[in-house]
Amino acid sequence: MNAILSTPRDPAVRSSPDAASPFALDLLAALGGQPKSIAPKYFYDEAGSRLFDQICDLPEYYPTRTELGILRRHAPEIAALMGPQAELVEFGAGSLTKVRLLLDAMQSPKAYLPIDISGDYLADSVRALQAQYPRLQVLPVVADYTRVFTLPTRQRQGHFEDSSVIESEAAHAQSMRVGFFPGSTIGNFTPAEAVDFFRMAAKVLQGGALLVGADLIKDPGILHAAYSDAAGVTAAFNLNLLSRANRELGANFDLAQFAHSAFYNAPLQRIEMHLMSRVRQQVALCGQSFSFEEGETLHTENSYKFTVDGLRALAMQAGFTPGPVWTDAQRLFSLHWLVAPM
Ligand code: AVI
Repeated sequence: MNAILSTPRDPAVRSSPDAASPFALDLLAALGGQPKSIAPKYFYDEAGSRLFDQICDLPEYYPTRTELGILRRHAPEIAALMGPQAELVEFGAGSLTKVRLLLDAMQSPKAYLPIDISGDYLADSVRALQAQYPRLQVLPVVADYTRVFTLPTRQRQGHFEDSSVIESEAAHAQSMRVGFFPGSTIGNFTPAEAVDFFRMAAKVLQGGALLVGADLIKDPGILHAAYSDAAGVTAAFNLNLLSRANRELGANFDLAQFAHSAFYNAPLQRIEMHLMSRVRQQVALCGQSFSFEEGETLHTENSYKFTVDGLRALAMQAGFTPGPVWTDAQRLFSLHWLVAPM
């Protein structure tokens, strides 16, 4: 556990902090706020992404393997709903294992369009998939899918070209475009952001469908274990946010003076992750000083849990029509087929 918690610091990076970067600006706002709170997207630098991969393999972290089990079991049924020659649009290129399960079950998939903010990660994924599916058009899109972005437009002949997603494609008779948003990443949005996500997806999918994974409300003991694992990997993932600030922004967080805290907030139906200051202390960031009281926290993540009807209600606010939903035998996790408005 201690090895995971160690914080490598690169003096060269520390001497040239980028005080105008989105991370710097958001962290400055977070530390100056009351209560202190920052978006979870800043977890995912290289070290954080590696730690998240380790989380997915933890015995306590059931979502990844449970969703994989649901996909394995129901891929033929899902593929039948997609029909032949469907295009798969993945919001945030994540696990290739999950995509492969779908592609293997699909009937002559036409194209795979992964949208991810990390160009390097996309390039690796594309190389791997293209080698395995030589007839598939793999069209990576480097973008933040929570903002306006550009997707290649479908043409009658089945080729693609660049164009705005907002643009109408109504003139083209199409095979189905299916969005894929696994892993319950939808749970890291506020309910209002989740509805915004569904609205964006509806524009992209234009009468197609969205396959979305959503973690279900369950015994809080199972949830607590999943977010406070015995090996301390989730703690390291949480604390890496501070290490990242030290590395990239020249901050001086002393990691030993912060504790990982994760708990289920039942009324709000979400796991909350915080970094709790063990003592009263000052932290320096970009030439400014910020104080933490003993026990004060920096709120780093919400991970909402859903009922099947609750998730469907959010999607319906954006015009989706709920279709089949698949769960595991213990009802830990759900996978939803949602039909997009035209
Ligand atoms: C990426 N996301 C769905 C994970 C979750 O469960 O909310 C992130 C995570 N945070 C702690 N463990 C995993």
